[in-house]
Amino acid sequence: MTAPVVVARGLRKSYGDLTVLDGVDLDVGKGEVLALLGPNGAGKTTTVRILSTLLRPDGGTAHVAGKDVVRQPAEVRAAISLTGQFAAVDDLLTGTENLHLMARLAHLGRAEVRTRSAELLELFDLTDAGKRVVKTYSGGMRRRLDLAVGLLSRPQVVFLDEPTTGLDPRSRNDLWDVIRSVVAEGTTVLLTTQYLEEADQLADRVAVIDHGRVIADGTARELKRAVGSAHVELRRKDGTEERLLTDGSVADVRRILADVERRGIDVEHWEVRSPTLDDVFLTLTGRPAESPVLVASRES
Ligand SMILES: Nc1ncnc2c1ncn2[C@@H]1O[C@H](COP(=O)(O)OP(=O)(O)OP(=O)(O)O)[C@@H](O)[C@H]1O
Ligand SMILES: [Mg+2]
Repeated sequence: MTAPVVVARGLRKSYGDLTVLDGVDLDVGKGEVLALLGPNGAGKTTTVRILSTLLRPDGGTAHVAGKDVVRQPAEVRAAISLTGQFAAVDDLLTGTENLHLMARLAHLGRAEVRTRSAELLELFDLTDAGKRVVKTYSGGMRRRLDLAVGLLSRPQVVFLDEPTTGLDPRSRNDLWDVIRSVVAEGTTVLLTTQYLEEADQLADRVAVIDHGRVIADGTARELKRAVGSAHVELRRKDGTEERLLTDGSVADVRRILADVERRGIDVEHWEVRSPTLDDVFLTLTGRPAESPVLVASRES
């Protein structure tokens, strides 16, 4: 890992008897994308709120861009942006007006307000939509605008709390592209997600959080490898299914298929299946990842 830009050690947080964070350790390297993956109530938002200075931990320490989140909150805030679970843009303003307003609040110079706003509208494919009031935007467009607002002041670290929850698959893919272009600019990203596929698509590393503890940390590939190897799945014409272990290489899959052919099996369908992050969650926690709650109605 490159020099860590986000470092959390032993973060704890409780509400009354409820322990929400039970000693969270995290490191995010410069320019890295870390996905904090976990089901509802795991402690993702609480972690992000502590790292972005909105909430004080009961114990532990955290540094962002080299500053202590408790002792130097102003310095931390100057280095970050936070895009929450629900978009926070003004419905009655146009996209461009939202950006201009927030750019002025972020003390950008007069010329920079215009150039940076135009640049972000372009990057996020909102140039035409920028002329319309946000009230008319789809959920995906709102999220993109919200993210653009967060990037006005070129933050070193971007926190994205469930950036695509409640979006349809196409809007989700669009937002993934946008996040990739943010990363390509060298920004460090910590995103939370309940979607295993999202972590797989975007993240260099995945930290799996459950009941306020990080229970696994590694690349998606490492996590999958820990869970087990790939297999070839066959369905015969008579409906019988077979799973054959493979190392996933072309040579090995060819050998298996040649063997199937030799045995004269009437194959209706076959595929090579690698372990998914869902399998990872099941292995680590002994239960499937809880399915995400649809929040589309709350954001529109
Ligand atoms: N202000 C609060 N008072 C009491 N309990 C809280 C408060 N904020 C969070 N919690 C509880 O802390 C736990 C973790 O919440 P958190 O929002 O961090 O989870 P999450 O992983 O972000 O979940 P989700 O995927 O639903 O957004 C939950 O059980 C939640 O109900
Ligand atoms: Mg949350």
